[in-house]
Amino acid sequence: MTAVAETVLDAKTEPRPIDEAFLASVLSGLSKRQKTIESKYFYDARGSQLFDAITDLDEYYLTRAETALLKEQSAEIATLIGTGATLVEFGSGSSVKTRILLDALAALRLYVPIDISGEHLDAAAKQVAADFSLPVIPLHADYTSRFTLPHQVSRDRLVGFFPGSTIGNFEPDEAAAFLDRVRSLLGPAARLLVGADLQKDPARLEAAYDDAQGVTAAFNLNLLVRINRELGGDFSLEAFRHKALYNAEEGRVEMHLVSLADQSLSLGGRQIDFTAGETIHTENSYKYSLESFRELAQRGGWRSEAAWTDPEGLFSFHALIAE
Ligand code: TRP
Repeated sequence: MTAVAETVLDAKTEPRPIDEAFLASVLSGLSKRQKTIESKYFYDARGSQLFDAITDLDEYYLTRAETALLKEQSAEIATLIGTGATLVEFGSGSSVKTRILLDALAALRLYVPIDISGEHLDAAAKQVAADFSLPVIPLHADYTSRFTLPHQVSRDRLVGFFPGSTIGNFEPDEAAAFLDRVRSLLGPAARLLVGADLQKDPARLEAAYDDAQGVTAAFNLNLLVRINRELGGDFSLEAFRHKALYNAEEGRVEMHLVSLADQSLSLGGRQIDFTAGETIHTENSYKYSLESFRELAQRGGWRSEAAWTDPEGLFSFHALIAE
């Protein structure tokens, strides 16, 4: 065997170092009475691909409704914002929805996309800078943690952008705390443009999170695939099933992985037992009314300036002003 071939083989067979924080989080979640896995672990490369596929599904009305709303209302939003503003986006991804706003916003000073995935972020930032001849300063950060804006960003006329109803993936108390942090980050006289999915018929909601093609199921089950690959888990994918249910009392869609049998697994030297029908709770997606969302915003120190909904009343988009 040549030296080169050996090197290649070694690189392949050498076990990757385990992400200890991921392992600790999974072990802690799976030892609770209601087992959980933190939803931030959905988004590896495959998870991000599957999520993009979710946003194209017939059942997943959220992306279509919000995109249509933004198109419909972008002129009015642009009038509210005026000129010389800086747009700060929380979880920018590939900035698809941002482009709708950028098309309409006059004489923006700067765009600051924030995302946890650095590679994706830099490519998207370059593309937006080129397409809109706009200064762009990408910020590689976990926007749910505490961080500061780059020093070049003056805290004048800052406008936050948080589409996708991602606010609904926080517990309401956390959402209020997040909104409060965003307010202090963006400074006085800031605005926040935020999308929030609306409460509606449970059947419609459940279909959006349990599509006929099984894309959302694959997205949820990908957590177990990741644990097997990255943490040396031995989950059998056939032994778990995706489940989405609307919890009317809490006003949220819950995502679970249901164990189809009594079973025991081993992970990180520990044994984890499941009874048949027991679930791992993987995500919540809270749904608001216009009024309950305004109340939430108020708790975070924001006042509602305007709100729009689509003709079917599926989705809402809010312009908030810092109090
Ligand atoms: N923010 C999205 C939502 O709540 C995230 C999402 C869509 C999601 N489908 C999912 C999260 C399925 C977990 C499982 O609509």
